[in-house]
Amino acid sequence: MRPVLVLNGPNLGRLGSREPDVYGAQTFEDLSALCREAGRELGLSVEVRQTDDEAELVGWIHEAADTRTPVVLNPAAFTHYSYALRDAIAQRTAPLVEVHISNPNARETFRHTSVVAAVATGTIAGFGLRSYELALRAIADTGE
Ligand code: DQA
Repeated sequence: MRPVLVLNGPNLGRLGSREPDVYGAQTFEDLSALCREAGRELGLSVEVRQTDDEAELVGWIHEAADTRTPVVLNPAAFTHYSYALRDAIAQRTAPLVEVHISNPNARETFRHTSVVAAVATGTIAGFGLRSYELALRAIADTGE
């Protein structure tokens, strides 16, 4: 099975209790299980990680670049200002899909800017946890 990394940025470990009106009632564990199960059905071996630390997330993107591993990435708040994350993403060659649970463009103005979108293969936002499933399907379909 093809390996895929599903990487999550700050505060996503608090899904379930964090602003459930925006992010829903399912926990990060629920999200991990959903991604692994969706991956199994698509022939992908999915590993799910979460960190609140920008340096750690950048390190994981380096790892994915070095091993040419496809990535589903929810950069969370780093989406809007992390040039370090953007520069790390620019180094990879395998597909990377930016995902968001909510639709940032329908929220506060500061969320309308993604500094990573231009170096991602594509973006899926606004479908709740299903955004991850759709991103995994997109990666499975690329065959890269
Ligand atoms: C988010 C949207 C971001 O604006 C926010 O900072 C997050 C989560 C989402 O999945 O909807 O932490 O990436």
